Amino acid sequence: MLNFHIITLFPELINTYCSVSIIGRGISHGEITVKTYNPRDFCSDKYRKVDDTPYGGGAGMVLKPEPFFAAFESIQRASQSPVILTSPQGKPFKQDLAWSLTEETDITILCGHYEGFDERICSLATMEVSTGDYVLTGGELPALTIIDAVGRLVPGVIGKSISLAHETFVDGLLEGPQYTKPPLFREMEVPEILRSGDHQKINQWRREQALKRTFALRPDLLAEANLSDKDRKYLADLSRQNKSNQD
Ligand SMILES: C[S@@+](CC[C@H](N)C(=O)[O-])C[C@H]1O[C@@H](n2cnc3c(N)ncnc32)[C@H](O)[C@@H]1O
Repeated sequence: MLNFHIITLFPELINTYCSVSIIGRGISHGEITVKTYNPRDFCSDKYRKVDDTPYGGGAGMVLKPEPFFAAFESIQRASQSPVILTSPQGKPFKQDLAWSLTEETDITILCGHYEGFDERICSLATMEVSTGDYVLTGGELPALTIIDAVGRLVPGVIGKSISLAHETFVDGLLEGPQYTKPPLFREMEVPEILRSGDHQKINQWRREQALKRTFALRPDLLAEANLSDKDRKYLADLSRQNKSNQD
């Protein structure tokens, strides 16, 4: 079982998302747990103040260390388990990090807000993680992104593990196109090969489509992708074809 501990000023955002769909089912089946801890509940002052003005001046409010430390120290977690601080300055969150986090029993995530954390709160974290090169109002969407991306990889959360086997980023490639019924919709036809019943040919077609799509949309991924000699030959042909179309 994987336990997520989320320190957030807005627990309702986390709880609402996690109550439905695949993550909701993973929680109700006991494969994952998601607990929230609101620093406001750990304030010792009458006004339950979680933020204050920045030293040295400047706009906005900074999150105070005392309630975040108190919320963190209330968590029952494995002592060496990862503590993720959400930050636009962090390491980019990628699928390989999601996979490695499935090996943990506890993952703690700190969600910032306003102008962000007092720097001393960062000392609680074992890593700082960014979900992309943009600035959000708070760490709740990044925390949910991490819960969702990691939670769905926990065995049993997604019914058939086969559905993880061909998806985007497995082998470092984007997934190719997918179709369902009907075979013909508004003059757009499902490729004949997918209806052929020949699984060897279908698998070959899917691999080529994944290579083609990655080549067109994310060629940067190919340098790190897990490619066979056959894949490399297909890509070389694709590249030649591309060049001759440009000339
Ligand atoms: C408005 S941001 C603070 C930005 C901070 N002042 C800076 O310039 O780096 C408030 C909080 O949202 C979260 N956040 C915003 N953008 C994020 C991103 N791209 N990835 C992860 N967390 C993010 C962090 O928790 C951050 O503390």
